[in-house]
Amino acid sequence: MDEFIAQLPKAELHLHIEGTLEPELAFELAEKNQVTLPFKSVDDMRAAYNFSDLQSFLDLYYASISVVQTEEDFHDLTLAYLKKAAAQNVRHTEIFFDPQSHTARDIPFGTVINGITAALQEAQTELGVSSKLILSFLRHLSEESALETFQQALPFREQFIGVGLDSSEQGHPPSKFVNVFDEARREGFRVVCHAGEEGPPEYITEALDLLHAERIDHGVRCMEDAALVARLAEEQIPLTVCPLSNVRLRVFKTMSEHTLKRMLDAGLLVTVNSDDPPYFGGYVNENYEAIQKAFDLSRDDLVKLARNSFTASFLSDEEKQKLIGELPES
Ligand code: ADE
Ligand code: ZN
Repeated sequence: MDEFIAQLPKAELHLHIEGTLEPELAFELAEKNQVTLPFKSVDDMRAAYNFSDLQSFLDLYYASISVVQTEEDFHDLTLAYLKKAAAQNVRHTEIFFDPQSHTARDIPFGTVINGITAALQEAQTELGVSSKLILSFLRHLSEESALETFQQALPFREQFIGVGLDSSEQGHPPSKFVNVFDEARREGFRVVCHAGEEGPPEYITEALDLLHAERIDHGVRCMEDAALVARLAEEQIPLTVCPLSNVRLRVFKTMSEHTLKRMLDAGLLVTVNSDDPPYFGGYVNENYEAIQKAFDLSRDDLVKLARNSFTASFLSDEEKQKLIGELPES
């Protein structure tokens, strides 16, 4: 089955570029940029990836990104991910970036997005992986900060297609960001939102009704609300689920307790993604492998998940059909 998963064409729709920093590259950049990491070695850093909840991960995620500083660094970080993705038969990716975690360190918005964009273009021509970029606002910061960030982003509007919302979920509901999402929609951007990861099902409803999210990132806690599940199934709202992330951040104790199979059985448009791969122990194929083993998924189930990943993407209908046409009959 692992071989079947490896050769399956797929899209990855929930991936934070800051969360793809491998410890080896972190140490290389720390030396180059004269930053001291709070770890003695690569092994030490990896050993620290033992999280009690979302916040304990985010603390390390924001601290580690301090080593990424120049346009070249953002390029190298992005290209390293895209090479991994290409090797796993990822044909298309929709990548989040968190500009506020860089502008807060006095790195200009343009440095970040130009470095990332250069790598995306290289991957398209040299690796055959297409990508889109989604600007994600940090929900633990104010809406004012998000509005300011959106203004900084507008001169680069051709380089990203949508906006999202991530970081510490509890206590920072989607309703806090209605104005900035209204503005982004008015400007023609696509809208997604992290909701129902650690936060309650009500945050998913808010993301849909107040932010007009077209896709929910995570969304696993929808299973606590039968009416919400019925709605998500009826409207075929895509959910970008990240199984290894959910177990590592203790949303579920073990993979067999994950709701993914029940979500599929409820007719939800579920996709499988890696979130922040080195932190959670695997890229997209390792996520497929983990759920295949936990739920004894069939080839049909796996093909369905891969098909969902293209269906749920922001590709054109024509592009989606072309990629879906490359899936095995199963
Ligand atoms: N930023 C990076 N990964 C995240 C996650 N899983 N949830 C919220 N914010 C994030
Ligand atoms: Zn995420």
